[in-house]
Amino acid sequence: MANERRRAAHISGWGRYVPTGVLTNEDLSRMVDTSEEWILQRTGILERRVAGSGETTGSMSLRAAQAALDVAQVDPRKVELIIVATVTPDYPFPSTACLVQDALGARNAGAFDLSAGCSGFVYGLNVAAGLIEAGQYDNALVIGAETLSRITDWTDRNTCVLFGDGAGALVLQANGARGGVLSSVLRADGSGGDLLKLPAGGSVQPASSESVDQRQHYIHMDGRQVFRFATRVLPEATRQVVELAGLEVEDIALYIPHQANGRIIESAVKALGIPPERVFTNLARYGNTSSASVPIALAEAIDEGRVQRGDLVVVAAFGAGLAWAATAIEWSLPLPVPKQPRRRILWRRMLYHLARVQSWRRRLCRRVGAWLRRLVEGEDA
Ligand code: UT7
Repeated sequence: MANERRRAAHISGWGRYVPTGVLTNEDLSRMVDTSEEWILQRTGILERRVAGSGETTGSMSLRAAQAALDVAQVDPRKVELIIVATVTPDYPFPSTACLVQDALGARNAGAFDLSAGCSGFVYGLNVAAGLIEAGQYDNALVIGAETLSRITDWTDRNTCVLFGDGAGALVLQANGARGGVLSSVLRADGSGGDLLKLPAGGSVQPASSESVDQRQHYIHMDGRQVFRFATRVLPEATRQVVELAGLEVEDIALYIPHQANGRIIESAVKALGIPPERVFTNLARYGNTSSASVPIALAEAIDEGRVQRGDLVVVAAFGAGLAWAATAIEWSLPLPVPKQPRRRILWRRMLYHLARVQSWRRRLCRRVGAWLRRLVEGEDA
C-alpha cells in the first residue's frame, strides 16, 4: 500500500549520569610520567569522572534509565526490553540489565547485557530498534554504562589518561509517525581483537594470583593501531548509514561520534566534510566512557538545544572487537519537551521504592521457602 506508514522506533526519552568525582590531567601528571599538555594535545581530554566507592555500572545505569523514563513519561512496568551495553558489568553474571530491571520494577521486561566494546550502545540501539520495527516490542530501554576506572591500570600512562566513568540511556517507542531510527550499520573484524582487550578473567585465563600479579585484569591496548582503525571506519560507517537512509552526508544536522580522541574525531569530520558546528563533542570533560560515550553525548546535545524536530542525527562508534557501528535517526519529537506535573515524577519515584520492597519480599519468600523445604525434607528423612 503506497500510503502505509512504516512502524519505526522513535526516541522519546533520554538521560545521563556521571559521577561527581573529577580526575584532572594535573592529577594524572602526579600519578604517571605524563603532562597536562601531552594529554590535551594528543587526546583533547581535560578531565574525566571517576565512580565513587559505592557506585557501579548498575547503579549509574539505573540513574540514567530513571532520567530517561522521566523524560518519556513512561511507567517502568510498561518497559518490555532492557539492554545494558557495557564491558564493565557489575558481575559476569547475573547481567547488569537484570539488576536494573529489578531496581526499576520493570516486571514485564526481558533484560540482557550486550558486549561490543565502545560500540556496544550503538549495537544495542540497533537491536532494540529492529525488534520494535518487527513488532515484537513497543517500549524499550537502551543503556550504555561503564565503570572503566575499575579496569584501568593506573600505572600505565598509555591507557590511564584516556578513560572515564558514566552512563547514558534512551527510551525507544514504537510509532507510525515520520522519522525515528532510519538505518543502521553494524560491523566487526575479530582479527583485531588483540589490539584492545582485557586479557584475564575469562575462560582463556581465569583469575589467578599470577593473572593478578601480571596485571592482566586491566585494559591492554595498542593505541596507534586502534587509532588507525578508528580513522578508517568512522567515516566509512557514517557514509554507509547515511546512504542506507537514502540521504547525503550534507544532510546531517548533528553528528555524534564516539568520544575517544579529539584527533580521531577531527580526522573523520574532515574526511566527511561535516562543518564543525554540526559535530557534538564533550570529550574534554568526560574522556572516553566507552559504551556510555554516545548516549551521554546525545542526551547532553538534546538538553543543550542542539537537536530540532526533522533533524538528521547520526551516531557512530568503534572499539574493542574490533567492532564498529553507526545509526541514522530522524528526530521526531518536538523539543523542548513540556514540563510534566511534579506528581507524575513523584509517582514514578514511589514505584521505584515499591520495586525495592517487592524485590526484598521475593528474596525473603525464596529464603523462607528453601528453609521450610529443608525442614520438611529433614523430618521425612
Ligand atoms: O574507544 C576506543 C579505544 N581506544 C582509542 O580510541 C585509542 C586510540 N588511540 C589513541 O587515542 C592514541 O593512539 C593515544 C592517545 C593512545 C596515543 O597517542 P599517539 O599520538 O598515538 O601516541 P603514541 O602511542 O604514538 O606514542 C607517542 C609517544 C611514545 O613515546 P616514544 O616511543 O615516541 O618515545 C609514548 O611512549 O608518546 C608516549 N606516550 C606518552 N607520553 C606522555 C604515550 N602515552 C603518553 C602519556 N604521556 N600519557
